[in-house]
Amino acid sequence: MREDDLIHFCPPARLIIGAGARAQLPSLVAHLGYRRGVLVTDIFFATRTPWVREYVEAAEAAGVSTLVFDGGQRDPTTALCDSATREVREVLGGATPDHVIALGGGSNIDLAKALCLTLQSGKPVREFVGVLPSVRRPLPLIALPTTAGTGSEATPGAILVDPLNSTKVAVMDNALRPQLALIDPEFTYTCPPNVTADAGIDALTHAIESYLTIDSSEYDRGGHADPGYSGRSSLTMMFAREAITLCARYLKRCYDNGGDTEARAGMCHASIYAALSYGSAGLNAVHGIAYAVAGLTHRSHGTTNAVMLPYVLGALAETRRDDLVQVARMFDISERDEDEAIQTLCHMLRDMIASLGIPTDLRALGVEHASLSGLTRNALNVTRLAKAFPVADVARAYADIVQRAYCGELGKTPLQIGDTALDFN
Ligand SMILES: NC(=O)c1ccc[n+]([C@@H]2O[C@H](COP(=O)([O-])OP(=O)(O)OC[C@H]3O[C@@H](n4cnc5c(N)ncnc54)[C@H](O)[C@@H]3O)[C@@H](O)[C@H]2O)c1
Repeated sequence: MREDDLIHFCPPARLIIGAGARAQLPSLVAHLGYRRGVLVTDIFFATRTPWVREYVEAAEAAGVSTLVFDGGQRDPTTALCDSATREVREVLGGATPDHVIALGGGSNIDLAKALCLTLQSGKPVREFVGVLPSVRRPLPLIALPTTAGTGSEATPGAILVDPLNSTKVAVMDNALRPQLALIDPEFTYTCPPNVTADAGIDALTHAIESYLTIDSSEYDRGGHADPGYSGRSSLTMMFAREAITLCARYLKRCYDNGGDTEARAGMCHASIYAALSYGSAGLNAVHGIAYAVAGLTHRSHGTTNAVMLPYVLGALAETRRDDLVQVARMFDISERDEDEAIQTLCHMLRDMIASLGIPTDLRALGVEHASLSGLTRNALNVTRLAKAFPVADVARAYADIVQRAYCGELGKTPLQIGDTALDFN
């Protein structure tokens, strides 16, 4: 317990976890009173796994009809959401579904979340960007994540790419949190190593970043009565601690051997616990800078987070010292000297990221030195995340982190004067 906490905790309404748990879904959906659903997935799951067919047939037998939309794509765009809305509404011929099911990674879950808003009216998703007015209630969502991962099955937001300017926009409201998140580790057994690595690092980043973020007592809720994110608390930190410990034990094991079912289950638990932490605490600089890096390089969400993570932790060595030492202990780092333990943690994380086949500096992602000022500015423009970074001078810290991530410099030594003089104002 932390006496100053102001907890505003929002989990999904129901959480079901277990190998083979998907078999429970048809009767549960019928029990909840749903009768007509839309299942959002992609072509891989529709054609290369039995899961879609098995669910649709069993649901039909339980009295629930399901329309399958299998046009999901990686990093869905607002344009994809709008065309999916038109296509599904046309097939439904004026009937309104009473629930939406998402089967897939964060991309399919986010597309399904957005469709929960657009399918009723047919309006373009752009009209829902930002925070929803309370009159706009989305359709209930059931999320079946197939990566361990993004945690979108427990968060209030859908992230879509705006094709007009390649930036990511968010549709965000606690009403968008799934009514049911069903986590069946068997769904993740088919993940290839690069998807396992990307998603796993995303989960670890969620856990560490939310463990170190601004306190709930200091979080700027902007006067919102029902904020999606509201800072770290004893409750979110409890989930983050468990998630970090599980990632330390299972992430590399999962990557090295996708058939290791204990490790797969371990990462599924890590991912949902990380989401129960960051899904209420929120995130800060890793994601804030990674969004800008993704805008520049079009590399995946997990990869851009992974590159930034060790450098961001280095910047918190003063303000989050005790917490960083605790994270180091979760990775079995035993140096008694706290500075050394924190340095070892940053290096160990970077080595782990390299061992997952992910680049470890911005140059390796193709970022040019001339882009660094603009990149820093774009990252600072994500003010929701920048404001939650617990350092005194966020702009200066972001510039230093970006410069270090470019040079691959993790040490405490000041960078060369020429290197640090980024014009980010
Ligand atoms: N809404 C949120 O809270 C939130 C949080 C983090 C990330 N995201 C979003 O999630 C997306 C990334 O999601 P992701 O990392 O889960 O990857 P993904 O959903 O983009 O999937 C990547 C690829 O892996 C394939 N795949 C997924 N599961 C598989 C499986 N079990 N077997 C074989 N192939 C599989 C997919 O078909 C796809 O081709 C990004 O668009 C990001 O913006 C959203």
